[in-house]
Amino acid sequence: MSEPRKILVTSALPYANGSIHLGHMLEYIQTDIWVRFQKHRGNQCIYVCADDAHGSAIMLRAEKEGITAQQLIDNVKAEHSADFAAFLVNFDNFHSTHSEENRELSTSIYLALRDKGHIATRSVTQYFDPEKGMFLADRFIKGTCPKCGTEDQYGDNCEKCGATYAPTELKNPRSAISGAVPVLKDSKHFFFKLPDFQAMLQTWTRSGTLQDAVANKIAEWLDSGLQEWDISRDAPYFGFEIPDEPGKYFYVWLDAPIGYMASFKNLCNRTPELDFDSFWNKNSTAELYHFIGKDIVNFHALFWPAMLEGAGYRKPTGINVHGYLTVNGQKMSKSRGTFIKARTYLDHLSPEYLRYYYAAKLSRGVDDLDLNLEDFVQKVNSDLVGKVVNIASRCAGFIHKGNAGVLVAENAAPELTEAFLAATPSIADAYEARDFARAMREIMALADRANAYIADKAPWALAKQEGKQDEVQAVCALGINLFRQLVILLKPVLPTLAADAEAFLNVAPLSWDDHKTLLANHQLNAFQPLITRIDPKAVEAMTEASKEDLASSEATAAPAGNGELSKDPLAAEIGFDAFAAVDLRIALIEKCEFVEGADKLLRLTLDIGDAKRNVFSGIKSAYPDPSKLEGRLTLYVANLAARKMKFGVSEGMVLAAGPGGEEIYLLSPDSGAKPGQRVK
Ligand code: 2FM
Ligand code: ZN
Repeated sequence: MSEPRKILVTSALPYANGSIHLGHMLEYIQTDIWVRFQKHRGNQCIYVCADDAHGSAIMLRAEKEGITAQQLIDNVKAEHSADFAAFLVNFDNFHSTHSEENRELSTSIYLALRDKGHIATRSVTQYFDPEKGMFLADRFIKGTCPKCGTEDQYGDNCEKCGATYAPTELKNPRSAISGAVPVLKDSKHFFFKLPDFQAMLQTWTRSGTLQDAVANKIAEWLDSGLQEWDISRDAPYFGFEIPDEPGKYFYVWLDAPIGYMASFKNLCNRTPELDFDSFWNKNSTAELYHFIGKDIVNFHALFWPAMLEGAGYRKPTGINVHGYLTVNGQKMSKSRGTFIKARTYLDHLSPEYLRYYYAAKLSRGVDDLDLNLEDFVQKVNSDLVGKVVNIASRCAGFIHKGNAGVLVAENAAPELTEAFLAATPSIADAYEARDFARAMREIMALADRANAYIADKAPWALAKQEGKQDEVQAVCALGINLFRQLVILLKPVLPTLAADAEAFLNVAPLSWDDHKTLLANHQLNAFQPLITRIDPKAVEAMTEASKEDLASSEATAAPAGNGELSKDPLAAEIGFDAFAAVDLRIALIEKCEFVEGADKLLRLTLDIGDAKRNVFSGIKSAYPDPSKLEGRLTLYVANLAARKMKFGVSEGMVLAAGPGGEEIYLLSPDSGAKPGQRVK
């Protein structure tokens, strides 16, 4: 037996300002399967992650929602953690980059780089918003494309003609934050001297740490010469202040990868048997892998190893890069309902369906992966229900009926159990190499052989024949043993199915090496259905709900009663006439009820004085008991065009304020107002 390996694994840290969607889940599921495989094999494998909590986008979003950045990142962390847990992503620690551990590590790494001469400073001229008092990143500047003249384009590229340019080339530039005309201003910036590490990176990127396609791309960058990397941002900024430099902050991408270390450090601080240094010191023999998407390769394969080297730490063993997710062959789309949030998926479907489908399509390359929803239904139903679980459901009844649930000791087809045993090393190699698609193909080929054996022996026919009862028991005991082998092989992908199967098999949690043994003279528990077929209607409901997510986020965003209208400065101002054209009235909520099949909506029946109106409003999260709204007055936009929704027609809109979730506040007039009165 070889010594267990010591492995530390990370997935990219999700930004703390948005929900997790199925594109994110591709990476977390891929990583989780690999980590579970390592643990299943008896290796010490630690999986850490965190929310990526810094940067101006998070600061501005918190401001827009009228909450502190800390409140925003706390809320999002709770949401992210719940989504990951529901998808069975089993982090050993999920932390935040806005943490003391990260502050200390970022500071000490920066100081080590500075002391060794790897930090330079120089003045940078950038657009500055004089109203907001902040420098503007490219995405916070809008203007007219200098090439094709299209208005309302971002500071670095034109969506219409694809041109890329410097923000200073934009015509008629405006701050996307305040709408002010930005001015050019100088400021001292701090740079990490990446070119100091050119030679090290040239060797390291060709030493088996990267997939070939990634190494080739990096070689192009290395050949064209590395640039110094700007690692500072001026206040106001949500992040860590640079030591000895008041008003200067680390750029979010400086402390984000250090967040991997910080999350591990946080885990070590409460786990005595884990030693931080033995994983991170220069001579560490532990393995370190980062799973990332192809859009952030430069940060992980250039800046990060150089920072680690410069600060005296070990470098990663491997950077495992995956492609993007498409749905039905196209980029995820909100209007098509294929921009599917993790939570929306979970409201309709079991996490293991997606885990299996992703596994069946993931190879070790960087190609994009398509979630074709029809193929998803067909593949999960055919493989998991039709092939794997089918074996147990075909055999269990005969064993319970004919032998009181006890598996006989006889092996009815040793050549079959030998074939399973012989196939296993190749499946382990495929898992190890992250070629999960090959692992799943080889496992399903074994399932096909098991099913063919059972079909050939036809225990249901034997059971009707005199004197064949022993043969029925031998065939079915073998069937159950083959099912157990398949469960062992699939356990990294399907942990819940494996746990349910262990309960049925009446065995302790199975580990990879258990595939070398068979159950004999063994009592089973009652068989319960282990997985049900996907009903295509659930998939349809999920895509409809994803469209509804969009509609309800519009519904809650539209009433900008939180005074945040000014936060969308590029929206044209409206004159008094336009304002007066909005027919705002007092409405009495006569009835308020849940909408069957809708996660976010309530149906309101409004009395608006001379008429009744039916309105769907995305406020369910804040009003779990809709009856409490009955009898309450609110404000109603009476002349908004009716909108056809999946659940019926919504006639107008009620006004509410707040960031969302439990914090949505329906607006109410002072007492004495009467239904139908116009707001003047
Ligand atoms: O691209 C992103 O979503 C980043 N939040 C990933 C950070 S990964 C790591 F470096 F922290
Ligand atoms: Zn253009």
